[in-house]
Amino acid sequence: MSAPPLDVVAFGATSFVGQILCRYLLDQFGVRGELKWAIAGRSQAKLEALRDALGPEARTLPLLVADAEDDDSLRKLCASTRVVVSTVGPYALHGEPMVEACAESGTDYCDLTGEVQWIRRMVQRHEAAARRSGARIVHCCGFDSLPSDLGVHFLQREATSRFGAPCARVKMRVKAMRGGFSGGTVASLMNLVKEAAADPALRKELADPYSLCPAGAPSTVRQPEVRGVEFDADFGAWVAPFVMSAINTRIVHRTNALSNHAYGTGFTYEEAMLTGRGLKGQLAGAATVAGLGGFMLAGAVAPLRGALERFVLPQPGQGPSLAEQRNGFFDLRFVGTAADGRQIRTKVTGDRDPGYGSTGKMLGQAAACLALDIAKGRPPGGFWTPATIFGDRLIERLRKHAGLTFERLSDSKGEVS
Ligand SMILES: NC(=O)c1ccc[n+]([C@@H]2O[C@H](COP(=O)([O-])OP(=O)(O)OC[C@H]3O[C@@H](n4cnc5c(N)ncnc54)[C@H](OP(=O)(O)O)[C@@H]3O)[C@@H](O)[C@H]2O)c1
Repeated sequence: MSAPPLDVVAFGATSFVGQILCRYLLDQFGVRGELKWAIAGRSQAKLEALRDALGPEARTLPLLVADAEDDDSLRKLCASTRVVVSTVGPYALHGEPMVEACAESGTDYCDLTGEVQWIRRMVQRHEAAARRSGARIVHCCGFDSLPSDLGVHFLQREATSRFGAPCARVKMRVKAMRGGFSGGTVASLMNLVKEAAADPALRKELADPYSLCPAGAPSTVRQPEVRGVEFDADFGAWVAPFVMSAINTRIVHRTNALSNHAYGTGFTYEEAMLTGRGLKGQLAGAATVAGLGGFMLAGAVAPLRGALERFVLPQPGQGPSLAEQRNGFFDLRFVGTAADGRQIRTKVTGDRDPGYGSTGKMLGQAAACLALDIAKGRPPGGFWTPATIFGDRLIERLRKHAGLTFERLSDSKGEVS
């Protein structure tokens, strides 16, 4: 069989985040450069409008029409490329046919999902086919969960070179971040809350920190979790729950399980948001908890959810403005504690809003890494995490081309909190 003509196809190119991704791919790779890529979606007219909006440089950008509800169109798309990068979401509603087509055809795949319940279903249903065909499927290549997964990978590499072993305990704290939400993200979150409200078994699954680990993985250690406002002595500040920890921690534990417990079988990992020092920090933490609780409650009660979706939250296709993307950023701090109590501190930052400006760049580099840096068969087909398939190669790409930093900090607490 001859090699497919394209390296990467951006499926869902007309979505809010897909458009950011395409602008970034054009800026980084041009049209017929090192990376041969194309845009794809279900509407020819919308794809043509996107190509026009990308400017004269994009005039010769190939365009493929494919609909998640038309298996033939997905099979044709897969035959044309080595990698599919999908932003067709909510993934739990529209994502499975493309994962299935890639797993069956041996086409590598990456996406932006943060929907734990859907990832688990995809692994259960399509891992055998991916192993047979050689397709590498990599979910969570956006703000959920690249900075966390690669951040822990980076910290453990530093810890191993300094202490001779990885840290038994790692914490991530969001020191600061600025950004907004798009309609697709809100729809994904609302769909998850709706599914969970109707299904006690799913609620149990979502509460399991090891829900994405392969069956039989010996991970039984009780995981710490910040559920309310707490004082964190490691940072000398108050912390509150971080909503993305529900996906990020599961991905980090899957990484540990897939890498034969490279971080240890007793490894613990948790995430939270720093809300500051003293009474002010404690009150800010209480406000964060109240806001989160109110949002989750409103999402679980059908009439309130409807009102939120119609009148408050962004609609599909809407999201943060260009200025908001440019002025956004994130700053994540990690502390690792070795078995003997010694500590190491690192940070990961991004220079755009986490969910869009930075996510578009992270996803673009993940797709490029899959197409250009990862040889076929190494690793073999299956469902991988960003850290287990990309590791240092993607860290280097993100540092050089996507405005992210991965840095070791001095050991003093003051610098961190
Ligand atoms: N992990 C992260 O950090 C992160 C960040 C941002 C977004 N996300 C996720 O990324 C996804 C996209 O978000 P968004 O705000 O960009 O969404 P959006 O603007 O609402 O776009 C959804 C896309 O799905 C396409 N689509 C829907 N049904 C389809 C079908 N049957 N066949 C082909 N395409 C179909 C739509 O096509 P049309 O254009 O033709 O309508 C549209 O392009 C969401 O799941 C969101 O949760 C994750």
